[in-house]
Amino acid sequence: TAILVLNGPNLNLLGTRQPEVYGYTTLADIETMCQDWAETAGCTVSFAQSNHEGALVDAIHAAKGQQDGIILNAGAYTHTSIALMDAIASVELPAIELHLSNVHAREEFRHNSYIAKVAIGLICGFGAHGYVLALEAMKAHLSR
Ligand code: DQA
Repeated sequence: TAILVLNGPNLNLLGTRQPEVYGYTTLADIETMCQDWAETAGCTVSFAQSNHEGALVDAIHAAKGQQDGIILNAGAYTHTSIALMDAIASVELPAIELHLSNVHAREEFRHNSYIAKVAIGLICGFGAHGYVLALEAMKAHLSR
């Protein structure tokens, strides 16, 4: 089982970026957590981040035929990007929308998600641990 964990804009700054909201765990720490999980679970995890919407679209396209599922923390593009929504719909891979913070407890503009419309499910509010929760959920979904 191969799972792509894809991260959008500003998530490269995790650890120093508004730690009161996003915590002190860096994206490198999160990648380590995901790779540790992959080893235990017997899965392959590919981990990527980009600040560029088009690069994220390209990464989703590249996943087709290579990956079994996508975990996407699209950052602020979650709330704006029809292009990312269309990309997920186009590759016909199961996708889980992920956020560190509970977006529904925050500003109104974070309540809408284009990704949610094409995702099999959503995980938000559990900080860095959410990545492991999402991987578990994807593995269970793929082996159902
Ligand atoms: C986020 C939530 C988004 O609203 C925000 O723009 C981010 C991070 C999260 O992981 O909590 O960049 O996706």
